Amino acid sequence: MKRVLITGGAGFLGSHLCDRFIREGYHVIAMDNLITGDIRNIEHLFHLPNFEFYHHDVSKFIHVPGELDYILHFASPASPIDYLKIPIQTLKVGSLGIHNCLGLARVKGARVLIASTSEVYGDPTVHPQNEDYWGNVNPVGPRGVYDEAKRFQEAMTMAYHTYHGLETRIVRIFNTYGPRMRLNDGRVLPAFIGQALRGEDLTVFGDGSQTRSFCYVDDLVEGIYRLLLSDYPYPVNIGNPSEITIKEFGEEIIKLTGTSQKLVFKPLPQDDPKQRQPDITRAKAILGWEPQVARAEGLRITYDYFKSLPEEELYRAAYHREFVKK
Ligand SMILES: NC(=O)c1ccc[n+]([C@@H]2O[C@H](COP(=O)([O-])OP(=O)(O)OC[C@H]3O[C@@H](n4cnc5c(N)ncnc54)[C@H](O)[C@@H]3O)[C@@H](O)[C@H]2O)c1
Repeated sequence: MKRVLITGGAGFLGSHLCDRFIREGYHVIAMDNLITGDIRNIEHLFHLPNFEFYHHDVSKFIHVPGELDYILHFASPASPIDYLKIPIQTLKVGSLGIHNCLGLARVKGARVLIASTSEVYGDPTVHPQNEDYWGNVNPVGPRGVYDEAKRFQEAMTMAYHTYHGLETRIVRIFNTYGPRMRLNDGRVLPAFIGQALRGEDLTVFGDGSQTRSFCYVDDLVEGIYRLLLSDYPYPVNIGNPSEITIKEFGEEIIKLTGTSQKLVFKPLPQDDPKQRQPDITRAKAILGWEPQVARAEGLRITYDYFKSLPEEELYRAAYHREFVKK
């Protein structure tokens, strides 16, 4: 049985990856310090003999007994509301955390796949973004802590590949959605649905002309799985190129939820990217991958998930974790 370590395994994407690797017959070790994740995302796996959970901070030394075939580094605060609150931990997990994973991979002879992000393109000046675009990031802006951590993580991973000959993969993930997102994580999709479910108006930042593209989580996981098993060491965008303005997206959510509320407009936060759309030519060519789930279908599944949550989740404050200042 192949063995895979998934850091950030109790988070939104990490937990879906745990499910996928369990389904594929792997022994899965999820490692997470639960700073933004939720143990309930993986509770259903605890009874399985081929599933283990390590409650551990990846930025500290990692020890995993036994062999490892693959390491997927997904630990990192991922939404602005989180990484603005815990900027130092965000920088540490993207630097010390990946260094620990790469060191472990060398010892075990494992292949490493890292979760990078469309945020490495910053506020892009080319559109759509392909992997050869170097990005437009403000290192000292509020989002710099996340964007630069991810850029460093890519550089460190590539250095281990070229210098140590380690097998590495880099996925640049664009906005992804689906069940197990947190209603209060500040991202536009759960924010809109949460507001609709509470009977509040839907808040659009700016005039709503900025665009986003949303990939359903099952499509993303399929792309990651194919990339891991490929022999391609350079970055690959995985996302859904179907682009929509935030204003149109808000209107779609109003229609989906049947709420009688309306859109309200507030000032745009600093350094908010105006356009985001993946060029997935490389993923198509190398992995034979493209998204299969239409937005209407993915949104319906996600809405049903949010509706099924206990009512108190709707009113839980954004920062429900104890963030310790270090
Ligand atoms: N969701 C997206 O649309 C998206 C887009 C681009 C990139 N990503 C990347 O994918 C990964 C997962 O994102 P997500 O949306 O699932 O976020 P998430 O917050 O749900 O999951 C991240 C997980 O990492 C854990 N974690 C954070 N710091 C840790 C540390 N030091 N040690 C151990 N565990 C730690 C958290 O507790 C959480 O369970 C992140 O690396 C993120 O940057 C996500």
